[in-house]
Amino acid sequence: MPSKVRAIVFHRHGAPAEVARCEEIETAEPAPDEVRVRLLAAPINPADLNVIEGKYPIRPALPGVPGVEGVGVIEAVGAGVTARHAGERVLLPQGYGTWRESGVVKADSVWAVPDGIATEQAAMLRINPATAWRMLRDFVELKPGDWILQNAANSAVGRAVVQIARVSGWRTVNVIRRAELIAGLKADGADVVLLDGDDLPAQIAAATGGAAISLALNAVGGDSALRLVQALAPGGTLVTYGAMSRQPLRIPNGLLIFQDLRWRGFWISQWYRTAAPEAVAAMLAELFTLAQSGALHAPVERLYPLTEAAAALAHAAQGRRAGKILFCGEAAGDSRA
Ligand SMILES: NC(=O)c1ccc[n+]([C@@H]2O[C@H](COP(=O)([O-])OP(=O)(O)OC[C@H]3O[C@@H](n4cnc5c(N)ncnc54)[C@H](OP(=O)(O)O)[C@@H]3O)[C@@H](O)[C@H]2O)c1
Repeated sequence: MPSKVRAIVFHRHGAPAEVARCEEIETAEPAPDEVRVRLLAAPINPADLNVIEGKYPIRPALPGVPGVEGVGVIEAVGAGVTARHAGERVLLPQGYGTWRESGVVKADSVWAVPDGIATEQAAMLRINPATAWRMLRDFVELKPGDWILQNAANSAVGRAVVQIARVSGWRTVNVIRRAELIAGLKADGADVVLLDGDDLPAQIAAATGGAAISLALNAVGGDSALRLVQALAPGGTLVTYGAMSRQPLRIPNGLLIFQDLRWRGFWISQWYRTAAPEAVAAMLAELFTLAQSGALHAPVERLYPLTEAAAALAHAAQGRRAGKILFCGEAAGDSRA
């Protein structure tokens, strides 16, 4: 029987804090192949803001419920479901719209979250650490001790790059725009942390002893990306996965012709769409293990209830945060850590 639950809903595209608000929507009982999940925690990622703004390749039908990832607890299972059970914590699937108190999803579209991982950390695993994991494995064959270069290094993806590189035996040059973050990133395992600026390529060469760097990860674009490629070795690869500055990439002819650099892009949504289920399961198993050990963790700035949508969205849209903003369900606090 349908019942009402709270959800963040946007009826038109625009500034997220203005157009998205908490409303009551209908939810249903699970069909035979579905489960009903109650929200525990779901982050606000930059892509979620872009979806609401109408500036993202994924445009849900309006009115829409945003939220590309999160964790819920199963509260009811369909008559034909045997692999999942009530009370299980699960990662929520893309395309569902996670910023809702409760909803139904296909039982085979959720992944059980093992014990030993705080709910908020599990809620942030499927997009950003997965993006870091893939970019470190799918473009360049890295050898132990190799250097990786990245900007926006204090972002959730950037911190995951640092943490995964550390346990994988790779070294990182991390470019940021705020000096106060240097100590925290080093504590996370960053080998070199530099402030972005015109002299960045020279700073990188000095900090790494002129090491040949074959992989750079770019979430900023514009001049910041150009400075990364200027520090790459001939044949090196720049993987662009974000455009926080909203400035286009500039590709100097000489860097293409004389350095044979490779300009690539990456989108985790596309990877999930095309990856074999075994590949997804294998990657998530690795990420769960890292999260359980504490090697992978993302700072949280603040949790908000769904009822405080405007404040949460305005907060998430601010730069210079200390961590992620998440929505939490009423059952939050069940950390099982
Ligand atoms: N392609 C994919 O599959 C994929 C997957 C995940 C994420 N992403 C993208 O990756 C980027 C980072 O996502 P996230 O969730 O990790 O971010 P986040 O944790 O929300 O952090 C945002 C980062 O962007 C930086 N930033 C914001 N505005 C900037 C500007 N104008 N110039 C330079 N840096 C700026 C911030 O620096 P301050 O802290 O100094 O403000 C911070 O490092 C986003 O663009 C996101 O859409 C892409």
